[in-house]
Amino acid sequence: MNILLVGSGGREHALALSLSKSESCGKLYSYPGNPGIWKISEKVGKELKSHSDYINFCKENSIDLVVIGPEQPLADGLSDSLRQNGIAVFGPSKLAARLESSKGFAKDFMLKYKIPTASYKKFNKTEQNQAIEYLRTIDYPIVIKADGLAAGKGVIITHSFDEAQSTLYQIFSGIFGEAGNTVVIEEFMEGEEASILAVTDGKDYLLLPPSQDHKRIFDGDKGKNTGGMGAYAPAPIVNDSILKQIENEIIIPAINGMSAESTPFQGCLYAGLMIKDNKVKVVEFNVRLGDPETQAVLPLIEGDFAALLYSAAIGKLDKSKISILENKHCCCVVLASDGYPDNFEKGFEISGIDSAEKSGALVFHAGTALKDNKLVNSGGRVLGVTALGESLKQAIEKAYEYVELISFKNKYYRKDIGLKGLKKNFE
Ligand code: AMP
Ligand code: GLY
Repeated sequence: MNILLVGSGGREHALALSLSKSESCGKLYSYPGNPGIWKISEKVGKELKSHSDYINFCKENSIDLVVIGPEQPLADGLSDSLRQNGIAVFGPSKLAARLESSKGFAKDFMLKYKIPTASYKKFNKTEQNQAIEYLRTIDYPIVIKADGLAAGKGVIITHSFDEAQSTLYQIFSGIFGEAGNTVVIEEFMEGEEASILAVTDGKDYLLLPPSQDHKRIFDGDKGKNTGGMGAYAPAPIVNDSILKQIENEIIIPAINGMSAESTPFQGCLYAGLMIKDNKVKVVEFNVRLGDPETQAVLPLIEGDFAALLYSAAIGKLDKSKISILENKHCCCVVLASDGYPDNFEKGFEISGIDSAEKSGALVFHAGTALKDNKLVNSGGRVLGVTALGESLKQAIEKAYEYVELISFKNKYYRKDIGLKGLKKNFE
């Protein structure tokens, strides 16, 4: 089958690799892709601006499956437009994508279907006074979230009434645009985070190995939130008891709930989890694979990944298409441009990827570009340097060995990816 992969980050490079290695994959096209993705797929040679452009491209190139990586096209209803034209899509409809595109929707949904999560209240711009009154009555810290998509920046943890009040004014005055017309104010949860990805056809599901992201910019989970500075899988914090809770209290009720709302969820349901005292709660749902979790999870999967996604897309999930590598571990360290998540310089030449790959690394491109035929950094998160190992310790050590082989000016990375997992192994 011919596949069109939509997206341009590290997650999509990992997807491109798994799809391209699948037996059922014929031609793999990528749009817009990145220099790493273009090496293993055919770059769509023109701009696809509107949904009709995508539909026409799919028809002209006999595309059997479209795999949508990022959330924005899902929130914009690209899946719906393609499905209406008879094209199979891995990715939820616009209405189902509200689990990510509206935090208020997600919270109301979790309340309705009794999915464990932080308690919350929701206010829109016209309710600013009520929101302030509410902020006076509660204990701190609390978390204020813009309702809509805000490129990972719309979550602010506040430690006092004054801080919360000024955050609220800023959000309602438009720092996140329309995404901030409504806010969710929620209880601050303590604990350790983990991520679970469920591939689902809307009824049945397959859980991929649990993983752990590292969202803050500095070691020891300090500093600003980022898109994610590294990940590893499987994450031992998700033990058998936690996994059962995730299935029974989160994934099954979410899938059944979305069907009961007549907005069945097809694609990858990502649950961001907070785990404390062997109890799990949902921090957030995403409606696509995680980045950089995907880079650490997909290398643990063998078989025909493309066929798995196709089976989910046509509503007949076939879990037999893949198997999960037992006793293997994977670690992905993100190389970023120093200064990220704020300002950073671009255009520095990157070297050493070939030697890292020769040594066994999987190097996923994210913010890279070609300039005068040279590979340069073009984004905050530049590469995901990934290693498989027989143990988590080995995967981490190999990933950091490969990291040393790659250079570019202002290269920055965290030195502690996976350490929380290693500590768990010894608890
Ligand atoms: P999100 O964009 O919803 O993933 O939130 C970004 C990060 O903010 C999460 O990964 C958590 O680290 C943190 N966060 C969000 N909501 C809460 C909460 N209710 N309690 C504690 N931390 C939170
Ligand atoms: N790694 C966090 C995310 O994909 O949203």
